[in-house]
Amino acid sequence: MKAISHVVQSIPPSGIRRFFDIVSTMHDVLSLGVGEPDFDTPWCVREACIYSLERGHTHYTSNYGTIELRRAISQYLALSEGLEYHPENQILVTVGVSEGMDLAMRAIINPGDEVIVPEPCFVSYKPCVMFAGGNPVVVPSYAEDGFAVKPQEIRAAVTSKTKAILIGYPSNPTGAVPARETLEEIVRIACEHDLYIVSDEIYARLTYNGKHTCVPTLPGAYERTILLNGFSKAYAMTGWRIGYAASSPEIIEAMMKIHQYTMMCASTMAQVAALEALRNGDRESDEMIEQYNHRRRVIVKGLNDAGLPCLMPGGAFYVFPSIKHTGLSSDEFCERLLFEEKVAVVPGNAFGECGEGHIRCSYATSLDKINLAIERIARFVSRL
Ligand SMILES: Cc1ncc(COP(=O)(O)O)c(C=O)c1O
Repeated sequence: MKAISHVVQSIPPSGIRRFFDIVSTMHDVLSLGVGEPDFDTPWCVREACIYSLERGHTHYTSNYGTIELRRAISQYLALSEGLEYHPENQILVTVGVSEGMDLAMRAIINPGDEVIVPEPCFVSYKPCVMFAGGNPVVVPSYAEDGFAVKPQEIRAAVTSKTKAILIGYPSNPTGAVPARETLEEIVRIACEHDLYIVSDEIYARLTYNGKHTCVPTLPGAYERTILLNGFSKAYAMTGWRIGYAASSPEIIEAMMKIHQYTMMCASTMAQVAALEALRNGDRESDEMIEQYNHRRRVIVKGLNDAGLPCLMPGGAFYVFPSIKHTGLSSDEFCERLLFEEKVAVVPGNAFGECGEGHIRCSYATSLDKINLAIERIARFVSRL
């Protein structure tokens, strides 16, 4: 057989998957590993979907997504951010932010284009750039700076081949939320060099200290930004696979071209569910966020008390404590913690080289489990 694609071969499997293949073979593991809400999708959302199935709404929708859902997304962005995206040609309903990211990259990248990616970051960013034929250019960030990327380092990374800056805040894995001024400076750099900005704002609603800064609202950002968001995290809808992209008509048209040939449309049932989430899901979403906020304080205090220095995250549902002083690598720490104490966390290097020396713990799990996991982590650290 001839060799499979060089690009595909060159990309290692996700570090998270490798680790959770081990976890899945073990019993009684306490997991702070997975990045998904422990809550079920709000009942009104599930019920709306069941009702629509009973009425036989099981056919394809418009490639863009149903006009009702696009109108609701447009209205949501207008009310929450003051942004005007026309439902007819500026919003595309996608199969989660995951598909939105893939489409965004394929729509803007020519072979050899560079995309600046601050790290640590979500595991799919660099592979999506590479699958599209581009080259990711990493700009690391560190705990000393609260994991906020330094705009001057982004500026220094720009070359004649740079096409876009890809950011995702609040951050998975660090929970970092950069200051508004930092984001404004990143937008200024994009304007100076005529770059696209791809902004993954899937954790926008999970922001704990004041209002989320939506990138396309910043001066100069609207025309050049592809805003990606979805329902997985805010409405506990990971399995529904539903999200959206909002941008200029030209960019949405380009993304839509790929989407119509490769996906046709997002799942009709998931679109019904997403519409209900936007109409009636906010109360339950707010309750979940209140609980994440409480857990956030508990886990940060617990990990610091256990001897793992840990910053207070501003958003998402992850903490990213340092394990450097233990002398173990992230992989060694996680494997030993798993086998010796049956607690699963993710090695920080899964999110980029600068994540080495850290672990990612998700607090999208019950307080009881968080407290028990902290007890075990403290016992493990005290033995090192
Ligand atoms: C930062 C970030 N972006 C995108 C995704 C994928 O989202 P979706 O379920 O909408 O595809 C995740 C999931 O963990 C994420 O953490």
